[in-house]
Amino acid sequence: MRRVLINMSSTILTGIKPTGTPHIGNYFGAIKPALESVVSDGTSFFFIADYHALTTVKNPAELQKYIKEIVCTWLACGLDPRKTVFYRQSDVPEIFELSTILGNVTAKGHMDRSHAYKAAVQAGENVNMGLYTYPILMAADILLFNTNFVPVGHDQKQHIEIAADIAESFNAVYGKVLTVPEPLIRKEVAVIPGLDGQKMSKSYGNIIPLFASSEELLKCIKRITTDSSAPTDPKPTDHLIFKLYELCATKEKTDAFRRRFQQGIGWGNAKQELFDELNVYLTPMRVRYNQLMADYSQAERILADGAKKARKVACETIACVRSAIGIFPSVEGGTACGGVV
Ligand code: ADP
Ligand code: TRP
Repeated sequence: MRRVLINMSSTILTGIKPTGTPHIGNYFGAIKPALESVVSDGTSFFFIADYHALTTVKNPAELQKYIKEIVCTWLACGLDPRKTVFYRQSDVPEIFELSTILGNVTAKGHMDRSHAYKAAVQAGENVNMGLYTYPILMAADILLFNTNFVPVGHDQKQHIEIAADIAESFNAVYGKVLTVPEPLIRKEVAVIPGLDGQKMSKSYGNIIPLFASSEELLKCIKRITTDSSAPTDPKPTDHLIFKLYELCATKEKTDAFRRRFQQGIGWGNAKQELFDELNVYLTPMRVRYNQLMADYSQAERILADGAKKARKVACETIACVRSAIGIFPSVEGGTACGGVV
């Protein structure tokens, strides 16, 4: 297997779409690894993929609520706006221009093979064009910022591979303009299980909300599916309670918990211990989250500043792309970048 090497000047970028209340799968699978991959001399871009949410969220008030929640989530989880550029996709119009351009070097077959599109077709859903061309918009998100690495959960791997293919197709026609990105997936957190044991996902109704109150958290954990098998059967470390415990406890505590599993701990006690550990882990972030939600103006200032920084880079890339394809603005200020650079 090829080893991925981030060097000190790598550009890291990732986004989360505001389609529901953030859960611990998003945190351990995407947010935490992304924050940990910030490198000292490199640049990191973290953003809210609000236009991507339109494929599913059609209620404007709901969309605004989800945007606010995910913004405060990133900040509560430790995103430092002095070290990273934090912005909303909708504040960077060059993304949509690049998306239009990239559509012309993207094979239709790529969209036909996209997992998300195929799953929607299989489920008999009415597929809209936003869903069909979702991977092109995502490629624009990534390629506009000369991204080297994209930290994501395993379910996004195909999207990053499509973005890399689109960059290569563009470069094959126009010369080496776009950086070819790579996914950054941590094997140990690639798929965080939900309450029923399958992948935790908003769409499966099996989530543990990241910022549930202690009472809600305990209720959620009590809902974890257990059956008549013993905790020792087949292997304690395969059990979802153990997997979730391991994510938030120290190595010493995890070793002790494993031993108690091997001795046949009762499911009720195992759930209580998981709750105690997870609650201690999440409480400081929950406090910060509630403060940020109560006074959103601080987050809004950070986003406005992030949008300015993001557009500076976006405008530089889009100028190179326009020049490569042979499109030049005919009037001053007649470009999406007027006044930014
Ligand atoms: P959901 O499946 O709940 O709709 P999203 O698609 O919004 O989640 O995912 C946002 C980010 O969180 C993505 O990078 C995704 O890979 C990651 N992620 C979501 N669920 C999980 C999970 N159960 N395990 C690991 N990563 C996850
Ligand atoms: N598709 C991603 C998800 O469902 C969200 C996303 C949009 C994204 N654009 C991105 C992730 C660019 C990484 C990079 O979670």
